[in-house]
Amino acid sequence: MSKFLPILFLLMSPLLASEFINQRQDSMQDFNKLMRAATQSLKNGETDGLSQIYGDIESIMQTYPTLFPDDSFDGKTKASKNIIEDRSTFNQIANDASEWAALAKIAADNNDLDILQQHHQNLYGSCKSCHSRFKN
Ligand code: HEC
Repeated sequence: MSKFLPILFLLMSPLLASEFINQRQDSMQDFNKLMRAATQSLKNGETDGLSQIYGDIESIMQTYPTLFPDDSFDGKTKASKNIIEDRSTFNQIANDASEWAALAKIAADNNDLDILQQHHQNLYGSCKSCHSRFKN
């Protein structure tokens, strides 16, 4: 049995890679939906639920950089290999986004709408700054 283990790993690694790809694409879909929901609430002046939304965004961005192992850049992915070459910038952008989400959450808890809008805009800025460098 043990001599088959390396073969088993070889067979499994593409499966694992595609699992990472699915997970990170789902995370982005969720991030997108949460941002839209937050934008809608802000437009209507409703702050209920915003704290939860930004808390969810914060945890998505905290885990996001762990979903890009070196062998997960082939197949159905738009992730750029620049991520492998410049992980520190990629991690920094994700980290900034998670911090803006944390600050937005605090502002939502304090009902501080001006500050909240600023962090919300910063979060929207993160999409472009990451996609322009790290998404094909
Ligand atoms: C830290 C980097 C980073 C940030 C910040 C980021 N993205 Fe992404 N996004 C990516 C990468 C990388 C991909 C490609 C992932 C893949 O295909 O494997 C992606 C893909 C996507 C996708 C396609 C998902 C799919 O189903 O294939 C959507 C939608 C998306 N991002 C929306 C957003 C929005 C909206 C924001 C900002 C509110 C945002 N992203 C912020 C890196 C980022």
